Amino acid sequence: MDFRVADLSLADFGRTEITLAEHEMPGLMAMRERFGDSKPLAGSRITGSLHMTVQTAVLIETLTALGAEVRWASCNIFSTQDHAAAAIVVGDGTPEDPKGVPVFAWKGESLEEYWWCTEQVLTWPEGEQPTMILDDGGDATLLVHKAVEALKTGEVTEAVDTDPEELRVILALVKENLAAGRTDWLAMANSVVGVSEETTTGVMRLYEMARNETLLFPAINVNDSVTKSKFDNRYGVRHSLVDGINRATDVLIGGKVAVVCGYGDVGKGSAESLRAQGARVVVTEIDPICALQAAMDGYQVATLDEVVGQADIIITATGNKDVVTADHMARMKHQAIVGNIGHFDNEIDMAGLAATPGVERTNVKPQVDLWRFPDGHAVIVLSEGRLLNLGNATGHPSFVMSNSFTNQVLAQMELWARARGAELPWPSPAADGGYPLGVHVLPKHLDEEVARLHLEALGVSLTTLSQDQADYLGISVQGPYKSEHYRY
Ligand code: NAI
Repeated sequence: MDFRVADLSLADFGRTEITLAEHEMPGLMAMRERFGDSKPLAGSRITGSLHMTVQTAVLIETLTALGAEVRWASCNIFSTQDHAAAAIVVGDGTPEDPKGVPVFAWKGESLEEYWWCTEQVLTWPEGEQPTMILDDGGDATLLVHKAVEALKTGEVTEAVDTDPEELRVILALVKENLAAGRTDWLAMANSVVGVSEETTTGVMRLYEMARNETLLFPAINVNDSVTKSKFDNRYGVRHSLVDGINRATDVLIGGKVAVVCGYGDVGKGSAESLRAQGARVVVTEIDPICALQAAMDGYQVATLDEVVGQADIIITATGNKDVVTADHMARMKHQAIVGNIGHFDNEIDMAGLAATPGVERTNVKPQVDLWRFPDGHAVIVLSEGRLLNLGNATGHPSFVMSNSFTNQVLAQMELWARARGAELPWPSPAADGGYPLGVHVLPKHLDEEVARLHLEALGVSLTTLSQDQADYLGISVQGPYKSEHYRY
């Protein structure tokens, strides 16, 4: 078996944590229980690019329990938990004779290594091609699209949000590939029946490609399942943001001024967690609706320029670029903490910071750097501007990821079954022949089912509608309970 991880001797530790996580992931375990015998993913080959954590390990083993073959990489250079990666590679075997799933991921990859890993998970043995992609942030999808573009036109254009350094590495990889005579990228794109995308930023890329008519295969937007973005992005972040700040700095948060840039789902979770620690939270927004929400939730809303000199902690949660600039950091308080919890590292202008004349970087410990300006003040930057909850801590806890990943499993089942005209025990939202080219969301009854699978573990008693009440509301006793445009 081909794979590359940090250290297979960590597999026992990884296995123990995976077993603990299974108990906290009732949605995924219910999928194994229901579909472990019928194996609706049999015959599929899934290329996964998503943070290689303990929770993802439970997702991978759910996909294989449902019959899929899987190859896996992380979608961030710092987010791999090496013990989880080792346990997945070892599987039922031993470190000397691993029998699990090929994983290409370790904590602290270089950008070159990162894209090499992404290429490895798209490259199946014996000339086979992947049938689905499971993506987080869209990098595996981007690599296929860029390689196909290069094959067809001889050049590669910039993607919506690819930063120049990233693009340089992708370009070099694609060029190397073509020079080595690898021409199967088109076959790969044709073999993929669809991608399921985990996060806001990846979904943004997919809609952009659909608009430009460059999307090569159908996509399911898992992020916009209510049981994903309204839970993982909010309640997951509410747990893991403060976890990351604490592990990185151990600075008391209570009483400090914390600025959260962006008040979407991730910003809401961020602001709530910092306020719960006693921080005085200021929100920045560009959207009047979200700015008004933040104000009515009791936060001061200001521009970063107005408050940058008073802030002790500055967190970006926008999915946008250049939100915190080098000039902002030059004006911050001594030892202000700067971190990003959005998907890519372009929210904080790290290149601008590094290029500031006279600035000096001191590494405090892995993923924590002190950047000192010529005037003597310094800022503490977490995870080199990459998502700090996965770089400085271990990301979201299992229970919330069970919601997100149950949606992922359902999306993979939808893509695979519908493309082959196979039956699933719920009505098909797809046309004959599978999902058409475009970006789709899972139907609401599946979203409600994901939530239902997590109620019992929390001791929740759900009220059942009477037929009379259901008729009054004009809905069915079994749901869906809300219209498509309801906002939760
Ligand atoms: P969202 O679209 O709900 O929220 C982003 C907010 O930022 C919007 O309200 C937007 O108006 C605002 N914004 C945009 N530019 C801004 C600027 N220059 N200044 C201030 N506000 C600005 O997106 P969501 O779901 O909250 O995701 C945000 C980012 O977090 C995405 O990159 C997403 O992929 C990522 N994410 C990270 C997770 C993690 O574990 N670290 C988990 C889930 C999502």
